[in-house]
Amino acid sequence: MKVLSVTSEMYPLAKTGGLADVCGALPGALARQGVDMRVLLPAYPGARELCGPCAGGVPLGLPLGTATLRRCEVAGGTVWLLDAPGLYDRPGGPYQDTDGRDHGDNWRRFALLAQAAARIAGEGAEGWTPDAVHGHDWQAGLVPAYLRAGGCDVPSVQTIHNIAFAGQFPAGIFGDLGLPAGYYDMEGVEFHGGVSFLKAGLHFADAITTVSPTYAEELTRPEFGHGFDGLLRARAGDFTGILNGIDTGEWDPGADPLIERRYSSRSMGRRAANRRALCTAFALDGERPLVSVISRLTHQKGIDVIFDAADDIVARGFNLIVLGAGDAELETAAHDLAMRHAGRIGVHVGYDEALAHRIQAGADALLVPSRFEPCGLTQLCALRYGALPVVAPTGGLIDSVIDATPASLDAGVATGIHLREVSARGIGAALGRLAEIMAEPNRHARMMRNAMGADVSWSSSAGRYAALYAGLVDGRRRIRE
Ligand code: ADP
Ligand code: GLC
Repeated sequence: MKVLSVTSEMYPLAKTGGLADVCGALPGALARQGVDMRVLLPAYPGARELCGPCAGGVPLGLPLGTATLRRCEVAGGTVWLLDAPGLYDRPGGPYQDTDGRDHGDNWRRFALLAQAAARIAGEGAEGWTPDAVHGHDWQAGLVPAYLRAGGCDVPSVQTIHNIAFAGQFPAGIFGDLGLPAGYYDMEGVEFHGGVSFLKAGLHFADAITTVSPTYAEELTRPEFGHGFDGLLRARAGDFTGILNGIDTGEWDPGADPLIERRYSSRSMGRRAANRRALCTAFALDGERPLVSVISRLTHQKGIDVIFDAADDIVARGFNLIVLGAGDAELETAAHDLAMRHAGRIGVHVGYDEALAHRIQAGADALLVPSRFEPCGLTQLCALRYGALPVVAPTGGLIDSVIDATPASLDAGVATGIHLREVSARGIGAALGRLAEIMAEPNRHARMMRNAMGADVSWSSSAGRYAALYAGLVDGRRRIRE
């Protein structure tokens, strides 16, 4: 089975969030299921640099312009960088310029990516033709539309990592996309009087997935669906939630080269040394219980709610470390908080992979009070490292963390705490419950062991993707016969 993964991010070549982690981990996880997955990614300058010299150089004359496919090997998998210097070779991130403004031609940049994917599906490249195409988020949303328009019968999967981003553009661009005129329709790519790339994916893909079962259910409701809930209800039979995993080789407290003291669930006492080292680095008292945050600093993640709860967190005897970057006001508020609670709250504004490992290895708990969370990966890392996740009861957070209720504690299966409400009061109450658990060392140790023993790997979810591809390919074969 050969599958082409089409994405705007892939760890370690280009990353703004969990999408990159997922697209970086899937090829390896799927290889163990017998799936040969290749990745198609724009040749951003950073990605080209990390790849080093690329092989190949397949010229593609596409309707929106010319491009070159450059092949490289990343962690044992094959990646095609789509090289179109006029569109991708520029400063800034995958979507924004250095001032944080969206690139004005994003529609063209990601329409070209989709045209390249459809061409590879239709004609193959370097002797490799996919049996199925798997696109991620709106950036790959046009892939199923181009496949359909081109009469290509390779089946497609559209995955929603975050429905808040619809890839919405003015209707005026439609003419340049090269799609049949009839596709500008409610039964097509039209959405609220414009063109939505995500809508295209959700309408034309053979199967739709999202990154947790609970988010899949939430998306069929108006509160979460961002206007797509009706379409997702109509396509319920083709829509499933498959929970993300993490790379358990990269995130392994027993072998992590980035942490002070390695440990396992049989030597959790060693975590205290990690907490002390971490607290020393932030000039905090290393003997107090430590709560942490590792996150994009945005409204989605409920960061403002954590800041509202900060005085209470400190009053309850906890120290707090925040690692994150994002909205300017939240970054400023984080700095202010660290000044106001010097010695009790430590803040690092920025993106720091190594520090994220050290925090997971030393903190007693990880706070994730998201307003919505398609899956979330930090709580999976936290489970693996024994930093008990304290999470909002939404999306993938529900699916991955077992709340410490009297019943689950008695049954010995709890792995974290669900907030009763996403508010400062909810966070205070949850930390109150955490403090009670920490006051009972046996119960606390049991919960940490459960957390560390939870299966956060890709193995079962990779099996689900493999089965999904196989079902689609089989279905197409039966239609042809
Ligand atoms: P999202 O994709 O919505 O940002 P996820 O939890 O799915 O949220 O993925 C976030 C990823 O980015 C995780 O791998 C997390 O550890 C990492 N991360 C987020 N912020 C930072 C940061 N400031 N420094 C290091 N890693 C971070
Ligand atoms: C998005 C979501 C996050 C998810 C990630 C990977 O960034 O916000 O919840 O874990 O995609 O699927």
